[in-house]
Amino acid sequence: MKVIVTGGCGFIGSNICVFLKNLSFDVISVDNCSKTYSKLNLKRLNSLNIKNYNIDISNKNKFIKLNFKSDIIIDCCADPAVETSRKDILKNINNNLITTYNILEKAKKDNSKLIFLSTSRIYPIKDSYQKFKMFYKKKNKDLFDEKSNIIGAKTIYGFSKLSSEMLIKEYNYAFKIDYVINRCGLITGPWQFGKVEQGLVSLWLWKHLNRDNNLYYKGYKGSGNQIRDILFINDLCELVYLQIKKFKKIKNQIFCVGGGIKNSANLNELTKICEEITGNKLQIKCDLQTSIYDIPFYITSLQKVKKYYNWFPKTDLRLGFYILLEWMKKN
Ligand SMILES: NC(=O)c1ccc[n+]([C@@H]2O[C@H](COP(=O)([O-])OP(=O)(O)OC[C@H]3O[C@@H](n4cnc5c(N)ncnc54)[C@H](O)[C@@H]3O)[C@@H](O)[C@H]2O)c1
Repeated sequence: MKVIVTGGCGFIGSNICVFLKNLSFDVISVDNCSKTYSKLNLKRLNSLNIKNYNIDISNKNKFIKLNFKSDIIIDCCADPAVETSRKDILKNINNNLITTYNILEKAKKDNSKLIFLSTSRIYPIKDSYQKFKMFYKKKNKDLFDEKSNIIGAKTIYGFSKLSSEMLIKEYNYAFKIDYVINRCGLITGPWQFGKVEQGLVSLWLWKHLNRDNNLYYKGYKGSGNQIRDILFINDLCELVYLQIKKFKKIKNQIFCVGGGIKNSANLNELTKICEEITGNKLQIKCDLQTSIYDIPFYITSLQKVKKYYNWFPKTDLRLGFYILLEWMKKN
């Protein structure tokens, strides 16, 4: 089976390329290597004979001409930094929504199916605050699922990803392009080069490993109480593989995909795990100002994805952190 992974030199895209190549898929990447770390991932792809086409996917003419007709396109191409999305709005729309448009045009031309990596940030910011309040009060936890409200301000990044989702549904209706959309929460694992804007878990662990005290609890009065669920990359790759295998039966569906409640933790708990496994304790500072784009809470309800694919995350927090740590030490 032939597969194009767009954004194949990014964290998720490169891992999916390698995973599928190891299962003997005929896989290529298309990525303009816009990030410093994309170039590191490119080396990894090259060493495994996975070809990357260096094309700016927001340029329709260039992308459409790509001479590789695939059965399926896995769209991992994006500008996923939340905070910076409001600084250059057009750039964000170009790299998120316009790339999706061009990918859909290519899918239409080649009759390809589409798996789209969307985000938990399509949900409104205010709903995260509400669920955060309820989280400690209720026995039945009110998590985010496929039916959760999507109306309300969500960041430019969230807006452009939700617009992509909507465009995909229009292409399905008008041109019969079949799709699966994964609304992913926080993903981490080897080959993620964490920064403040993106890749929190790997940044947190890296700073601990290197005894680098330049680390802050940002916002929420510096409490470190903000909560996320965490999914490790191998579990996501396994899900994508299942989705390819079962595409004929399970298509034109949206799934919330994340670590789920078992793999959720607040920032203080993440600090504790990092301290335990590295043996290093940092003097973490506080930055009291809460960004208007930050959210205090995101945990995924895994009910639908479990029901359709019998899939659930196999890597728990501690194991995932150990795997990441070993990779960091080696690399
Ligand atoms: N990492 C996460 O925690 C997470 C969580 C939720 C959703 N997602 C989604 O998963 C996808 C992949 O995320 P990631 O963490 O791997 O991001 P990433 O930044 O590591 O990778 C994105 C890749 O896309 C490429 N790219 C961007 N614009 C391009 C363009 N115009 N033309 C060609 N290539 C371009 C970049 O060079 C980069 O290599 C994104 O769609 C993101 O929205 C990621």
